[in-house]
Amino acid sequence: QVAAASGHTVVLVDQSDEILKKSTKGIEESLKRVTKKKFADKPEAGAEFIEKTLKNLSTSTDAVAVVHSTDLVIEAIVENQEIKNELFKRLDKFAPEHTIFASNTSSLQITQLANSTTRQDRFGGLHFFNPVPMMKLVEVIKTPMTSQKTFESLVDFSKAVGKSPVSCKDTPGFIVNRLLVPYMMEAVRLFERGDASKEDIDVAMKLGAGYPMGPFELLDYVGLDTSKYIIDGWHSLEPNNPLFAPSPLLNKLVQEKKLGKKTGEGFYKYK
Ligand code: 3HC
Repeated sequence: QVAAASGHTVVLVDQSDEILKKSTKGIEESLKRVTKKKFADKPEAGAEFIEKTLKNLSTSTDAVAVVHSTDLVIEAIVENQEIKNELFKRLDKFAPEHTIFASNTSSLQITQLANSTTRQDRFGGLHFFNPVPMMKLVEVIKTPMTSQKTFESLVDFSKAVGKSPVSCKDTPGFIVNRLLVPYMMEAVRLFERGDASKEDIDVAMKLGAGYPMGPFELLDYVGLDTSKYIIDGWHSLEPNNPLFAPSPLLNKLVQEKKLGKKTGEGFYKYK
């Protein structure tokens, strides 16, 4: 959405036409929200902006078929190292020489993903934040193999889509998630111990620390499955780090398919 809105030609690739239809509808809804604000007193310019943006966007279920004419691939699939490696390995065979590969991973090592390809120097991390149309930040991750030219291209692209880039080494969670995920897990542990209700913890962080959402609201917004993938991955890297300890309650909710806002229930109910 943000790439198309800033004049880039985008092909959105996913596994089925049904998912792509749902994603396109989500983008249309989001564009309407952005436009309502941006073009409050110019509805015609707003309609034109939406039309232009959607013209820049097409969809496909065949990544290999579209990658041959792509300058930049941004991968945002499931947080699973093997599945990501498999995709990058396949795309590497069909992508042009100059094409840069980037992952939007929240927690996996970019270096390991880059190593599944032959273009380690043209590989980096581009980490966006939910909701992407609103959050201004992008973390740009440079591995020891990422070339300076690639890094600069990723920084330039981030600016071209209207974001403010920061850079971080290829360390678990980069900057934001390294601080945010242990904080959210500590909130769950506080609740698990019965020290405070989740509602009071959320109110406390909103009114006492000025956060726009409380930790439980944010966990539901990000997705409990995504949060579990992150913490489980870090726990396997550093089993003795108490900040990365798994939570029985989070595991239970994920097992029950209560994944947060997207499934209608997580810590809270949304139906
Ligand atoms: N698309 C377009 N616009 C959107 C939007 C979307 N998806 N979501 C919200 N907005 C707009 C609304 O239209 C609204 O605009 P308005 O001010 O003109 O009415 C504005 O954002 C505010 O929205 P709301 O009034 O509905 O609600 P809030 O004031 O609470 O703002 C929020 C919503 C921007 C999501 C705010 O609550 C917030 O900043 N929350 C914290 C988000 C956060 O921490 N994100 C990081 C998560 S971590 C992550 O993503 C990393 C990953 O790797 C796990």
